[in-house]
Amino acid sequence: MPHVTQPPASFQLNTGASIPSVGLGTWQAKPGEVASAVEHALKSGYRHLDCALIYQNEQEVGAGIKASSVPRSEIFITSKLWNTYHDKVEQCLDESLASLGVDYLDLYLIHWPVRLVPNESSALLPVNPDGSRAVDRDWDMSKTWASMEALLKTGKVKAVGVSNWSVAYLEKLEKTWTVVPAVNQVELHPFNPQHKLKAWCDKRGILLEAYCPLGSTNSPLLSDPELNAIADKHGVSPATVLISYQPQRGCVVLPKSVSAARIEANLHLITLDADDMDTLDGMAAKGKQQRVNTPLFGWDLGFEDWYPAQAKAMLANGGYL
Ligand SMILES: NC(=O)c1ccc[n+]([C@@H]2O[C@H](COP(=O)([O-])OP(=O)(O)OC[C@H]3O[C@@H](n4cnc5c(N)ncnc54)[C@H](OP(=O)(O)O)[C@@H]3O)[C@@H](O)[C@H]2O)c1
Repeated sequence: MPHVTQPPASFQLNTGASIPSVGLGTWQAKPGEVASAVEHALKSGYRHLDCALIYQNEQEVGAGIKASSVPRSEIFITSKLWNTYHDKVEQCLDESLASLGVDYLDLYLIHWPVRLVPNESSALLPVNPDGSRAVDRDWDMSKTWASMEALLKTGKVKAVGVSNWSVAYLEKLEKTWTVVPAVNQVELHPFNPQHKLKAWCDKRGILLEAYCPLGSTNSPLLSDPELNAIADKHGVSPATVLISYQPQRGCVVLPKSVSAARIEANLHLITLDADDMDTLDGMAAKGKQQRVNTPLFGWDLGFEDWYPAQAKAMLANGGYL
C-alpha cells in the first residue's frame, strides 16, 4: 500500500472485515495494571486490543473488557498461538478465549514461526539441560498453518494470520497455504521499517501490523534528533509522530501503555507531510538500523539486517540461541 495523505482510522483485511488502525498493546503490562489500562482505553475510544497467551495477563485483559461495558461486538480482539502449542492449536485458542472471557477472536496469529518443545523446565519457555532453548528446528510450519486455517470453520476466529514471519518464511508457506494470512505482525518503527517485507505483503493483500512502534521499554528512538525535529515542527510528542507514521504508511499500529494520559494521547494521530515520511522512511538506511525485540530463539528467521550481527554479539557474551 503506498503512503496515504492522512492516517486512516481503519483498514480492511483480506477477509473484508474492518480493523481499527490503532490497537492497545498489552505486553509487559504488569499484574494489576492491565485491567485498568484496558478499561480506560475502551472508555477513551479504543476498539482494538492486541493480546497473547504468552503475556500471561489475558484474564486481566478480560476483566478490563468487562469493566468497560463496551459490547464485545464493538471490539477487535487479537490473540496469538504460543510457540509450545504448534501441535495443539485449538487448545491454545480455547485457553485464550477462556481467559479473555469471549467466545471468538477477530484475529488469531501464529506468534513466531518457531516451535518450542515443552519439558519439565517450563511449559511456555522450555530450555534444554545445557541452557539452550528447546527449539524443534524440524517442525513443519505448514502443519501449524493448516491447523490455523481449520479454526476458521469453528467460528471461534474470524481471521487468521502470522507474526514475526520474514519473506523467506512466507515464501515457503505460500507453497501450501489455501488461505492467505490476513496479517503479519512484526517489529516496525523508523529504525526497523522492513520496506522489502512490506512490499511483499502489500502485493499479496497481507496487512502489516507494527509492534514496538515506540521502540518498546527504554526506547532508543524517542530521543532521536531527526524524530524530535519532526515532532517540534508539528507541536506534538515524538510518540505521536511514531504512532501516526505507521497508519500513514499503511500499517496497523499497536502502542502499549498503562498510563491513562498516554493511553489517551496515543489514540490521537496527526498527518505527516511528504518530507516527514521521507525522513522517517530513510532513517534506518542512513545507519540507524536497529531492532529492539530480540528473543534468542528467533535469531535465524531470515529478516534483513537483523539477527546475524545481534546473535553473534549475544553468543560472544555467553548467551545461547
Ligand atoms: N508479536 C510479537 O512478537 C510482539 C512483540 C512485541 C510486542 N508486541 C505487541 O506490540 C505491543 C507494543 O510493543 P511494546 O509494548 O514492546 O512497545 P511500545 O508500544 O513500542 O512501547 C511501550 C513503552 O513506551 C511507553 N509509552 C507508551 N506511550 C508513550 C508515550 N506517549 N510517550 C512516551 N512513552 C510511551 C510505555 O510506558 P507506559 O506503559 O508506562 O506508558 C512502554 O514503556 C505490545 O504491547 C504487544 O501487544 C508483539
